[in-house]
Amino acid sequence: MNLNLTTKKIDTDCEIVLIRNKKIKENKEILKSLNFKGNDEECVLLPELKKLYVGCENADHDSIRIAVATAVKKLNTTNFKSAYIKVKSNLSSYVDGFELGNYTFTKYKSKNENTVEKNIYIEVSKIDKSIQKEFEESVAICTSVNMVRDFVNTAPDDFYPEIMAKKAIAIAKENNLECKILDEDYLKENNMGSMLAVGRASRHRSKLIHLTYKPSGKIKAKKKMVLIGKGLTYDSGGLSLKPSDFMVSMKSDKGGGCAVLGILNAVAALNLPIEVHGIVGAVENMIGGDAYKPDDVLIARNGKTIEVKNTDAEGRLVLADCLCYAQDEIEDIDYIFDYATLTGACVVGVGEYTNGIMGNNIALQNEIVKSALDSGELATTLPFNRYLRKTLKSQIADICNISSTRYGGAISAGMFLDSFITDENKEKWVHLDIAGPAFVDSAWGYNPAGASGAGVRLTIEFMKNL
Ligand code: BES
Ligand code: ZN
Ligand code: ZN
Repeated sequence: MNLNLTTKKIDTDCEIVLIRNKKIKENKEILKSLNFKGNDEECVLLPELKKLYVGCENADHDSIRIAVATAVKKLNTTNFKSAYIKVKSNLSSYVDGFELGNYTFTKYKSKNENTVEKNIYIEVSKIDKSIQKEFEESVAICTSVNMVRDFVNTAPDDFYPEIMAKKAIAIAKENNLECKILDEDYLKENNMGSMLAVGRASRHRSKLIHLTYKPSGKIKAKKKMVLIGKGLTYDSGGLSLKPSDFMVSMKSDKGGGCAVLGILNAVAALNLPIEVHGIVGAVENMIGGDAYKPDDVLIARNGKTIEVKNTDAEGRLVLADCLCYAQDEIEDIDYIFDYATLTGACVVGVGEYTNGIMGNNIALQNEIVKSALDSGELATTLPFNRYLRKTLKSQIADICNISSTRYGGAISAGMFLDSFITDENKEKWVHLDIAGPAFVDSAWGYNPAGASGAGVRLTIEFMKNL
């Protein structure tokens, strides 16, 4: 699919018409007879009239994205070569709808399905610098989101820590980023026993990825942001093995790490005036004679001891050392965010479509929720409290890797991470539990079944507002 901007009407195979707020203005009788109501995700194709009507229930940006995605999916069932749409405002939402709605994951399909290359013409009133910029930025962000979707959807045997590191190197090359790949020797030398333990039974060596973006040329960085991602390329649960049904889709446990790679890719494309560090703990959690065990006591990089009670609570063990690494190695941090498919409890609590936002700085968390909603992602805050914090106490070590209560698992996991944040960074840190939206079994809105690329758009929106 090629998107083109134009300032005049183009004669194409089909014109896309959004029916806003269920107000049908043309071909009323025909649409009525076809029982078209103008609801979200509803569309009617009238080939003789070269029209594709799609419902757009509300006036908000996400309704536009959903309507346009509905249209592009319908077009993909045809052999049309071109389509046209007139846009009066909110151009970026239309671009999002096309780019995100058109995504399919075909890597493992041996036969190509109907893929007639389509030219889409978007008519705008004028093409000036700001329109051009809005268009290009939106395309760049969606390209990064779709890259993250591809990464997360890739099978675990084709995407293990070393491959993740290679992807990071490729992104760095393409965008002129600094890139450090640290191996297990580095982890050992730097006493990162928490992260090391998780990957021990895997045939794939763990990698710590560190990408750095600095604005180019005369642009001075206004802020310094550190983004940390959970990159579990597979989470079998380890010796606290997951039941079969729960193991399926655990290739998505690299969703946070992949989001961080995608964000850096987008930040560089947009040339944003901030310094951004992307740190990913790429690890595979497996079983075997060399596996770490419930009852083991691990020592993290900052010297904190962790009693392991469940090897399936591995993401926090990897992140603990990554958080220590970031705070040791990077000075004067303004923001430190972590992205992780951390808990099933978060999905149970807020549903599959919503990110859980946690931390110590309420204003900052609210800003992130707002950035999420503005960008078309869903997010809500989950507040810490002193009682859940106590449930992480260990009798023999400094902390346990799981809570002693079965309730509030998303929050206690967040508070486990908090215990690895230094006093100076407490208010700068936010934890994003993306376990729900990172990977959803069936399609939702303009997101496909499988990986959605959660975390990328909300973060870019936050950065643009800095
Ligand atoms: N990767 C999982 C969390 C997860 C669950 C992500 C479902 C996406 C969908 C994480 O490592 C995990 O297994 N967490 C455990 C923690 C428990 C042992 C305290 C969980 O949520 O059950
Ligand atoms: Zn796990
Ligand atoms: Zn996990």
